[in-house]
Amino acid sequence: MIGAANGQPVSITGLGTHVPERVVTNDDLAQLVDTSDEWILSRTGIRERRFAAEDEALSDLALPAAREALEAAGVQADDLDLIIVATVTPDMQFPSTAAILADLLGAEKAAAYDLAAGCTGFMYGIAQAYGMVESGLSRRALVVGADVLSKLMNFADRSTCVLFGDGAGAVVVEPASREGFLGFELGADGAGGKDLYLPAGGSRMPTTAETVASGAHYVRMNGREVFKFATRVLVGSAQDVLAKCDLSLDDVDVYVPHQANVRIIDHALAKLGIPKEKTIVNVDRYGNTSSASIPLALAEAVSTGRVHKGDTILMTGMGAGLTWGSAVMRWTGPV
Ligand code: ACO
Repeated sequence: MIGAANGQPVSITGLGTHVPERVVTNDDLAQLVDTSDEWILSRTGIRERRFAAEDEALSDLALPAAREALEAAGVQADDLDLIIVATVTPDMQFPSTAAILADLLGAEKAAAYDLAAGCTGFMYGIAQAYGMVESGLSRRALVVGADVLSKLMNFADRSTCVLFGDGAGAVVVEPASREGFLGFELGADGAGGKDLYLPAGGSRMPTTAETVASGAHYVRMNGREVFKFATRVLVGSAQDVLAKCDLSLDDVDVYVPHQANVRIIDHALAKLGIPKEKTIVNVDRYGNTSSASIPLALAEAVSTGRVHKGDTILMTGMGAGLTWGSAVMRWTGPV
């Protein structure tokens, strides 16, 4: 799916984030599995990540991020008419975490649902919110990208448990007086779904004592295949969305790639020819926070003054599905 904006300007008017307090270093993980700080840092660029506390669930991370985004936008929860929570780690299968969040916020007039597109969830979420606001179906949308993958990790599997961290990012999406979002490109390759999945707990393999005993309720990943896929789509999707918007890579002021692995990002930079100075990287401090990755990196770009009004921002995510998604936007103001 690819398209350039051509109607009512729509933009991000508020941005908020939240990460759990607990910092987990590579050395901490080396106490659990046969790994080392040297291996993790050299293969992934990750130094540390945040893990939610035992009693913290997705909505506990999403709520402070959402409140911060609403405050930045000057929007009351009661004014929201749409809440999308992009995640693969909801509080529970149902009700949706979006509905739980709506209740916690006091957003009584909002439609609310969860969206599952793996680490690409936030990109799918802002594309949906854009479409709803641009068409007039929604006036004020809240999009949350949040995950607590630490709850689905097998801490006996060194090939996955070192990669992920927990976090939440939220944005308010509203009509704007000048163009914000310029275009989107979204895609999915279900044939690759087998390379990153969680076998048990769904209707294909309901949870039983056996599924728990065999660890089928934990994330499974074919790292090499995901690596190849990620490097391919990070380049292709960026090129496609820029072409659709009649922009070139030189027009990009700030590049916000999904924060899975520094080697994946470096590969994309080399292929695309984007300089490092334009690229936001925080995977060293948060690991791969899945749906929260892009909003956390975007918020860091804003808070450190690396994004200015009128700048062109390119964002690309990819993840389970396998899915991918890019957005190009002009930054319409400080949020
Ligand atoms: N510590 C030490 N050794 C390890 C670890 C670890 N944490 N994990 C794997 N190894 C070992 C393997 O067992 C293997 O040993 P062997 O040769 O004796 O069998 C060796 O390291 C090499 O394994 P590879 O899988 O070839 O290592 P690679 O260099 O490919 O790095 C990695 C693995 C980091 C997982 C890489 O494939 C990767 O980043 N893949 C992308 C995965 C990803 O980002 N997933 C996130 C979700 S999707 C997304 O966000 C895009």
